[in-house]
This record gives sequence, structure tokens and C-alpha cells, in this order.
Amino acid sequence: MRDILNELEERRAQARLGGGEKRIEAQHKKGKLTARERVELLLDEGSFEEFDMFKTHRCADFGMEESKPYGDGVVTGWGTVNGRMVYVFSQDFTVFGGSLSETHAEKICKIMDMAVQNGAPVIGINDSGGARIQEGVASLAGYADVFQRNIMASGVVPQISLIMGPCAGGAVYSPAMTDFIFMVKDSSYMFVTGPDVVKTVTNEIVTAEELGGATTHTKKSSVADGAYENDVEALYETRRLIDFLPLSNREKAPVRPFFDEVDRVEASLDTLVPANPNTPYDMKELILKVADEGDFFEIQKDFAANIITGFIRLEGQTVGVVANQPMVLAGCLDIDSSRKAARFVRFCDAFEIPILTLVDVPGFLPGTSQEYNGVIKHGAKLLFAYGEATVPKVTVITRKAYGGAYDVMSSKHLRGDFNYAWPTAEIAVMGAKGAVEILYRSELGDAEKIAARTKNYEDRFANPFVAAEKGFIDEVIQPRSTRRRVARAFAALRSKKLSNPWKKHDNIPL
Ligand code: HXC
Repeated sequence: MRDILNELEERRAQARLGGGEKRIEAQHKKGKLTARERVELLLDEGSFEEFDMFKTHRCADFGMEESKPYGDGVVTGWGTVNGRMVYVFSQDFTVFGGSLSETHAEKICKIMDMAVQNGAPVIGINDSGGARIQEGVASLAGYADVFQRNIMASGVVPQISLIMGPCAGGAVYSPAMTDFIFMVKDSSYMFVTGPDVVKTVTNEIVTAEELGGATTHTKKSSVADGAYENDVEALYETRRLIDFLPLSNREKAPVRPFFDEVDRVEASLDTLVPANPNTPYDMKELILKVADEGDFFEIQKDFAANIITGFIRLEGQTVGVVANQPMVLAGCLDIDSSRKAARFVRFCDAFEIPILTLVDVPGFLPGTSQEYNGVIKHGAKLLFAYGEATVPKVTVITRKAYGGAYDVMSSKHLRGDFNYAWPTAEIAVMGAKGAVEILYRSELGDAEKIAARTKNYEDRFANPFVAAEKGFIDEVIQPRSTRRRVARAFAALRSKKLSNPWKKHDNIPL
């Protein structure tokens, strides 16, 4: 009996070594943790339950039958993050470079199926040389099996991808279909074709880091949602994000104890909006002052900074925030900001997370580059996302809400539930200068007349009261009491029920 028990422990020890001490050392030398170390840090201590520890590949080509390491290059199982269940797979670069074989894919598919059945998020830690070359099409089939599950799980359980090493070729499409991608600076990259192929085909000379590193994907392509200094920070931030999210679309986001007054008054907000309408101010200040304990988890911080997206809590409940940022491009909507915010709004709606929208938007960014690249279709994404969302929607207009952008930013007309405005709000088709130039073109030579016309327009429209008179704004509120008003609004919406007409699915302008 004792022998069998010892044998189990020996086999386990062997499995835990993955590709062996030397390769583990090489992994550490690159500043990377091993697959198991990552799982340990991601999950609550001692909570990891492993599946398929002894699974091996079935390949008999290219001498593969000689080497059958336990686990086949991926560690899979479930555990908890602050007591809440998550499923995880973590590719082991020390075993065949973490490459994906038929059996490696089976292991991932198994935990994905269990996650969907049991209603828990899937966290995938990617560190892989891609398709297991020795297995050929069997490996490609394995990828497709994972892709199909990514698609089926989308909107059912949150899916988070951590890129902690290579992720290239078609392999990038599994993370791409998950809800959030986090990368580690300098040690991870994602691209469809690597620098060598790029050089051959387009003559461009580029490093792997430049082509698909964390900076590229968080600042330029927006493929990734966050870039972190090292594995430890990325894993810690993933735990923080999971705390904000529901485990599945079958339940609501967790309610955490909070240590902040709901009716906290922030007198400084009364002077947040500068006297000059063209002077920027930092919308993040408002977000932090509204949030419980000033805690804000930002998504895509480094991309399209003219719009801010992320999660806060109000009275311990998760709320998604979308806010124009007057500090960048005057807070206008453009292609990038529309795409960024639309995806975020759709995530929130899929997982029943209420949405707070903070508005200071002078309109859509003009220009040939915007038009040629399809700002019409991309802007429509955000409009569509807000309009189809059935979650509680609370909007606060702090300053400008001009033109089509007024409609888009969770206006009353798109089924906004509580639409508030600060007294500094200006809700109009456009700013006074632009309006006067169009309406009184013949008087443009007469500065005095134009100044009087501008003043008249401002008096008439540069305020929230015209919209309030029509019921498009439910109430004009004091900036200082925004936290209380918004928290009460969401509290009043907790049992909101709204559904859209039956359809197979919509046809959002992709
Ligand atoms: C089998 C692989 C492998 C792979 C790496 N290894 N990639 N084994 N299939 N795809 C093995 C290596 O042989 C080596 O084994 C070990 O993993 C570590 O690899 P190194 O090359 O020594 O590591 P490093 O120098 O860090 O380079 C990492 C790498 C490189 C950049 C990822 O290994 C590489 O270019 N691999 C091939 C990548 C690739 O072309 N993959 C297929 C892409 S197409 P030993 O025994 O020496 O430790 C694809 C299609 C997916 O993925 C389609 C989905 C639809």
C-alpha cells in the first residue's frame, strides 16, 4: 500500500517538474514565472485543484514517442480568487515550448466546458510556441476546438487572457475572443505573423517587441487591455479585476463590504468645471470622488484616452464607468474611443453590470482620416451598444453634450434611466461659436453683432434647463452631491427589468 502511495507522490513530483530543472531555470532567467508558479499566485493559497496532471500526448511521429512528459505542456484546473471559483489553464513553456497538441487542447476544452456548466470565469495564461509542429493538423484542430468554446462561452462566463510569453500565429485568436487581455512588458508578444515573415513580405524590419509587445498592443492596436511590469503584477491585477465581475451571466456581480459614506459630499466638485468652456479638466477626478474608497479599475488606460472606461463600486456594487475625458482631444468621440467604449458597454450589458456615463463631449472628431476610416460605422457601434443595453443606466452631463454625441452618450432617448446634469451643462446641437457662424454668416464681418449673437445663443442654450424643460434631463444636480445622487439612482434601479424584442441576434455595425 505504502509503495503505491509513494509512487503517486513520485509521479506528482515528476509532473510538477514539467520540462525539468534546466528549462525551469531558463524560464526564470527570462524574468518569467513557471506555469505552476503563476497559478499559485493567481489563486487563493492552497485552493488549486488540478485536472489531468498525468495526461500525455499521443503523437508517435518525429521521435515524439520517446518523450511523454506528464501534463503535456499545460496545467489546468480550478481554484478560488478571494473565495470565488474560477477555472484556469496555464501553458508550460518548459514542455515543448508550451506548444498546443491535440491532448493539450483537450485539457483546455475540458476546463472550459466545466466553467460554462458551473458558471465560473476562465482565466487562460498563454506562454506558447503555438501549434505543436510534430502533430500537424491535429494541433490545428485542437486550436479550433478551443476557439469554438471561446465563442460559446462569450457572454456566459467572463474570459480573461494573460499573455506571459510568445503567442503567435492563429493562436492569438483564442485570447482575441476573450473579454480582457493583459500582457507583461518586455516578455510577451502577440502577432499573426512574426518579424521574419514581415520582413520577407513587406520589407519592414521590426523587432518582436515593436511588432506585438505589450506597449504596441495597449497603445497602438488596442488588442490588449492592460500592460504590466512583470508576471506578479499582472496576476495581482487580474485578481483585482475578478473581484469586480460576476462569475457568470446567471448571477450578479458580488457585493463587497464598503467603508465609505454613501452621501459623502465633495465640495471640490463644484469648481471642477473651469469658467472657460475651452479649458480642460480631469474627468478622472470625478470618477475617483464618486467611487467607493476612490477605487477604480481602468480598462484600456493607454488607448483612446479621450474616453475613460473601467469599474468602480457604489455601495459595494460594481458599476461600469464610461466617461469623456476633456484632457485629451477635448473629450471628443472618434473611431478609437467609440470602439473602446462600445466594447466595454457590451461587456457590462452581457454581465448585468450597471453603467454610469459621465458626459463632456464637444461632438465627433472631424477630418478626412476619420471619415475615410469609417467613423460613421464605428461611432454607430457605441450608439448601438448603449441603445441595446438593458442594464441600469445613469448619466451625468458635466459640461458639453453637443450634437450626435449628446444622443450617443447614454441619453434619455437611448433608454437612459436617470439622466442628470450639472448646472454647468451645455446641451445643444453645437457650441455657440459654430452655431453663430452658420446662422449669421452674413454678419460675420461685424464683430460687435456676432458677439451679441453669440451671447444670445449662450444664454439660450449653454445650460441644462432647455433639456430639463423637455424632460430629457431628469434633474439638475449639485456637483458636490453627485456621489449620493448617482448611488441612490442605482439603488432605485436594482430590480429594473427591461428586455429587447426576440431576435436570433442583432446586427451591430461591426
Ligand atoms: C513544438 C516547440 C514549438 C512548437 C517551440 N518548441 N515551439 N515544439 N512545436 N510550435 C520547443 C523547441 O523545440 C524547444 O524544445 C522548446 O520548445 C523551447 O523553444 P526555443 O526555441 O528553445 O525557445 P525560444 O528561443 O525562447 O523561442 C521561442 C519561440 C520559438 C520563439 C516560440 O520556439 C519558435 O519560434 N517556435 C516555433 C513557433 C512557430 O512557428 N509555431 C507554429 C506557429 S503556427 P527543446 O527541447 O529544445 O527545449 C501556429 C498556428 C496556430 O501556431 C494555428 C491555429 C489556428
